[in-house]
Amino acid sequence: MLEMVKLNAGYGKLRILFDVDFLASKKHIVTIVGPNGSGKSTFLKALIRFNEY
Ligand SMILES: Nc1ncnc2c1ncn2[C@@H]1O[C@H](COP(=O)(O)OP(=O)(O)O)[C@@H](O)[C@H]1O
Ligand SMILES: [Mg+2]
Repeated sequence: MLEMVKLNAGYGKLRILFDVDFLASKKHIVTIVGPNGSGKSTFLKALIRFNEY
């Protein structure tokens, strides 16, 4: 399981994600859906960085 609560992320002073909650269980395939520029890649980059700490 992977859970994030109130994730905030962005680039320098530019904030892109505001208090994003996310829950992925082992039993399901999770997709992230949204229009261009909505923050999908930013979210995944934040997840990767989160993993490094
Ligand atoms: N390296 C960056 N520096 C500044 N702003 C960025 C950068 N990468 C993406 N953005 C901005 O962040 C927002 C979300 O982009 P992005 O996460 O790439 O969306 P998606 O992957 O859903 O298309 C957009 O407004 C985009 O212009
Ligand atoms: Mg993208």
